[in-house]
Amino acid sequence: IPPVSGLTSFPTLKLLDPSGNPIKASSIPPNTSYLYVFNYPLSNEPNMLINIGDQQGNPVNVPPTTVTVPQTGATYDFPGGVGPNNSIVAYSGICQHLGCQTPLISFYPNIPSCQPAQTSAGSLKGVIHCLCHGSTYDPAKGGAVVTGPTVRPLPYVSLKYDPSTDELYAEKMVGPVIYGHPGFGNPTDSVVNNPMGDLQGGSPVTQAVV
Ligand code: FES
Repeated sequence: IPPVSGLTSFPTLKLLDPSGNPIKASSIPPNTSYLYVFNYPLSNEPNMLINIGDQQGNPVNVPPTTVTVPQTGATYDFPGGVGPNNSIVAYSGICQHLGCQTPLISFYPNIPSCQPAQTSAGSLKGVIHCLCHGSTYDPAKGGAVVTGPTVRPLPYVSLKYDPSTDELYAEKMVGPVIYGHPGFGNPTDSVVNNPMGDLQGGSPVTQAVV
């Protein structure tokens, strides 16, 4: 399917707050996601910025891992968390099952009151859960599928951290390379992984405002 609109490559964008000031990585409280949603690389492609914490609210180191795509068996690498504690990650806010978006899909931190009853994810460092049909993804494992119906991991935003300034940059999206939506008969471009594809009508963002 030819791209509707978009970009020829992923832009590198500094993450800014709504006032236009750079987000300081060390100021992002662990276990919060709803306030940290930004569009990238297109204006209609939301992503969640998450500082993963433990049950006491301390940042948790997120190590590199390999993500498996249940639909195909393919794998790809996830570089792990960034920031002063290697605990900051970012994922697409578009569910890979049928495309529900934030806040329908959201991060639930690893504290008892926030764990969705539908999951058995109590041992995870929180979980990303989609209210539409209950898919869950592991934010500490590169967006790997925990429970379906999704058969595709959640794409991640590759983040770069500049320790000299405490600032964060979005560099690209990485996720399952699949053409063909499991919920529909016709092939659909993998919208968040191909910067040239989009959800119809999105335009490239020039600042990543969180
Ligand atoms: Fe998210 Fe179906 S769209 S679980």
